[in-house]
Amino acid sequence: MWTRPRRAARREGQSMLAEPMPDEPKGETPDLSAVLPMTAEVRGGRLFIGGVDMTDLARERGTALYVMDEEHMRNQMREYVRWTAYHWEDVEVLYAAKAFTSVAMLQILDEEGLSLLTASGGELAVALAAGFPAERIYMHGNNKTPQELEEAVDAGVHRIIADSLEELERLSAIAVARGVEQPVLVRVTPGIQPSTHSYIQTGQNDSKFGFGMNHGLAMEGVKRALELPGIALKGLHMHIGSQIFALQSYAKAIEVVVGFVEEIRRETGYTVEELDTGGGLGIAYGLPDEPSTIEQYGKVIVDGIKEEVERHDLPVPKMMVEPGRSMVANAGVTLYTVGTIKEVPEIRTYVAVDGGMTDNIRPALYDAGYECLIANKADRPRTEVVTIAGKHCETGDLIARDVELQRVDVGDVLCVCATGAYCRSMASNYNSQVRPAVVFVRDGEARTVVRRETYDDLLSCELRLDGTPVA
Ligand code: LLP
Repeated sequence: MWTRPRRAARREGQSMLAEPMPDEPKGETPDLSAVLPMTAEVRGGRLFIGGVDMTDLARERGTALYVMDEEHMRNQMREYVRWTAYHWEDVEVLYAAKAFTSVAMLQILDEEGLSLLTASGGELAVALAAGFPAERIYMHGNNKTPQELEEAVDAGVHRIIADSLEELERLSAIAVARGVEQPVLVRVTPGIQPSTHSYIQTGQNDSKFGFGMNHGLAMEGVKRALELPGIALKGLHMHIGSQIFALQSYAKAIEVVVGFVEEIRRETGYTVEELDTGGGLGIAYGLPDEPSTIEQYGKVIVDGIKEEVERHDLPVPKMMVEPGRSMVANAGVTLYTVGTIKEVPEIRTYVAVDGGMTDNIRPALYDAGYECLIANKADRPRTEVVTIAGKHCETGDLIARDVELQRVDVGDVLCVCATGAYCRSMASNYNSQVRPAVVFVRDGEARTVVRRETYDDLLSCELRLDGTPVA
């Protein structure tokens, strides 16, 4: 591990790859492997991912830049399949597109044989454009528009996850008009509150998502789904939240939901065939974080369901899990160039980079924390404590507050770890900032899979007052 950092004075005008100053505090090279992609390594003092030199990549392709380790993503996909199938043969792994989507990403997902959870017509459109097979696509969302429901039915998605009575009625009418039967899962909220940020808890009673189980709404939803023409009820869905460390929350939710499966059988005679337990497995953002492994998660979910159905003398259902973050978060880093360094005496040092809340809204939105290192000084100890600021017009536009970092200079390439999930997908054009490119790295090769936006892209939807397009 490393030594505790102390505030060190910034050196002006030090060259980027200069040797450590003679008075630089001695420390150990930081071991950031817990938060970095699996292929990350230090060669000649520089950070490499997927065999690619991050410093060179940043200089060649520009910053801010999202970099994703292809091997890491594929590894996570295989781990999920492996550790769920290990406990039960009939488990389908759906990747939650919202964590990070691009056509190339979906091509990888397809190659690996996984399924896909979409949350909007837009995510569905991207998936179809990527050639992702509709029979492995699911769609959820608490207020899918009639148009989105039509698009999903017309595409022939495998399952639509119904969230409300109104939606069931709408979907029924759409399916009947087309003369088809749409297979559906009913989303229930099991009344479990996992310990995570309140903005990303979803399974509690006070939630906008799904059919609540405490006032009979869930039973009403199931009965309606069984009666309505054009709807083929296949089972239940739940998702209790995101960035969950305590697997106990899943075990409790499963206990509640399987109890409900038994109630459904008693009241309606229908036996649930499929049970989708959602996503939510937490990941390490900081070095002290100790998330559960996919192996532990697989066991809790699959064995939990098996034990509970056995207790109620029910058949084992087909199971689905929907990981997003844990598939991609640690596969990704964001590279920035350090532009200015502002020391506020006795308070803190702001290191400003060429991105910020437009490419990573999570610190502003959830007070999320990140580990950082300087890609071109990767073998040096992190001896300073600084605050990484973005370039946008908001005081809250910070990427990382009071974090350990190597002695920093203007022009350094800053690497922010574990940004593969919910950064690119939540990026915005605030301040008319162009969104960064996404580069996949593997075996020494760097492939741009989403190009950087241009000012023309920013203008592409604009019309003048007389209605003529600008671009
Ligand atoms: N299934 C459903 C129904 C979901 O709503 C979500 C995430 C997932 C699966 C995937 O959950 P994951 O495995 O990624 O935790 N923007 C927030 C996270 C919001 C999660 C929304 N739903 C963040 O940046 O932390």
